[in-house]
Amino acid sequence: MKSIYRKFAGTALLAVSLPVFALLAGKAEDGGPLHDHFCMGCHVNMFGGDGSAIYLRTERRVNSIEGLMGQVAFCNEQTKVGLNQHEIDDIVAYLNESYYQFETD
Ligand code: HEC
Repeated sequence: MKSIYRKFAGTALLAVSLPVFALLAGKAEDGGPLHDHFCMGCHVNMFGGDGSAIYLRTERRVNSIEGLMGQVAFCNEQTKVGLNQHEIDDIVAYLNESYYQFETD
């Protein structure tokens, strides 16, 4: 009985936290380390600091969540980093939460 209750409590919690990022399959907390490891170096070379200026510049390329998904997939392909779709989703979630903050509902 106890384990059934636990399962139920877990499900209820999930239902409460999901709608905010309903459209995003990835997890921002997993995307952060992936991003820092695979993606930051190049952007730092271009923009200095921690490289985040590339996401915050006024003439930035990405202006929608779809655009962000496309750009992350594009950079992944161009640079032959070789991330899988799951990792790409995580990085998209991380970048959106940290910088772009597009509506995803
Ligand atoms: C080989 C160097 C390099 C690597 C590695 C790289 N990028 Fe980029 N990235 C670029 C360049 C160059 C641009 C800018 C293109 C432009 O301004 O036309 C860019 C732009 C971007 C943008 C758009 C920023 C904006 O203007 O809004 C995003 C998002 C992005 N990269 C994500 C990533 C992710 C995620 C990874 C890791 C999978 C990654 N990049 C790895 C070179 C790189």
